Amino acid sequence: MTIITTIDDLQCLAKRRVPRMFYDYADAGSWTESTYRANSADFASIKFRQRVAVNLANRTLASTMVGQAVSMPVALAPTGLTGMQHADGEILAARAAERFGVPFTLSTMSICSIEDVAAHTSKPFWFQLYVMKDRDFIERLIERARAAGCSALVLTLDLQVLGQRHKDIRNGLSAPPKPTRSTIINLMTKPRWCLGMLGTRRHGFGNIVGHAKSVSDMSSLSAWTTQQFDPSLSWDDVEWIKKRWGGTLIIKGIMDPDDARLAADSGADALIVSNHGGRQLDGAQSSIAALGPIVEAVGKRIEVHMDGGVRSGQDVLRAVAMGARGVYIGRPFLYGLGAMGEAGVTKCLDIIRNELDLTMAFCGLRDIQDVDRRILLDQER
Ligand code: GLV
Repeated sequence: MTIITTIDDLQCLAKRRVPRMFYDYADAGSWTESTYRANSADFASIKFRQRVAVNLANRTLASTMVGQAVSMPVALAPTGLTGMQHADGEILAARAAERFGVPFTLSTMSICSIEDVAAHTSKPFWFQLYVMKDRDFIERLIERARAAGCSALVLTLDLQVLGQRHKDIRNGLSAPPKPTRSTIINLMTKPRWCLGMLGTRRHGFGNIVGHAKSVSDMSSLSAWTTQQFDPSLSWDDVEWIKKRWGGTLIIKGIMDPDDARLAADSGADALIVSNHGGRQLDGAQSSIAALGPIVEAVGKRIEVHMDGGVRSGQDVLRAVAMGARGVYIGRPFLYGLGAMGEAGVTKCLDIIRNELDLTMAFCGLRDIQDVDRRILLDQER
């Protein structure tokens, strides 16, 4: 039996169990993957101040994100094709998050639909919106998210054009996924995954198929994205979406203080410092490096969240110390899902919570609300 104690363990197991084209899809960064690597590497260089002999009894990680209670300041990031890491993946991940008391964010590019996830959960989840050219479709998506009781809309602004991920091209990743000869041979080495997929009817883009025009004849995922996603997206569209939605709005994909000011001006409730997990602009700085200047620029006007490169509770604590009110994990929960389904997502959250709790204690604090830059060695960070 494999003993799992880290996110890396989940990653190794997922790599064994998930077909290569989907594992690679989740794992890849764009082009040279320099930003993808920087995201986690830059976390490692941030050092904590160890404190001792302070009372560490009765610790708490409870907090809020956009005013909603969370058991720790962590959310599951919106990730495309989650239901291809494991059959019914979005439903399983949403359930694990719900039981844990952290937000689950359903991607526009999910396999399970908004309605399907709502039918299999009992608490509101968040919905991530990509702006596509077909505005009627976007309006209907917003309506569907509202009808499903979603308690926040996460609007992604950094995918007007798609960063090239070489592995997706080599694996022939298409939309909806159509395995090639070599990927079928690879599938045959993943019996557990295949059995799961045979047992579900959820194989296409649940939010899109049957709801948007011309989705059936696409070849590559990048061609499809280029055709559907709106390269002319602007802050006027953000205003339009904010009005249409009328609820809690989170803007995702901010890396520059100037854009952060525009996000704050837009009246959104939060922004997410994100370079899309190193999947878009290769050569951008890491999210954790971008976080400090953005908190400084707008931290008093809008809640600042972050994602990218988080692989441990220590990383969550580093981001919180630098001013993030919430931290999203994408690949870590996908590894858990691919490795062990719902139990793997729960395991991932468990690992992160334990690391976060103990690391906070080593820094001499009992309440996550008290965490700030003073727990870091170099206060200038
Ligand atoms: C978007 O969904 C991506 O593939 O990064």
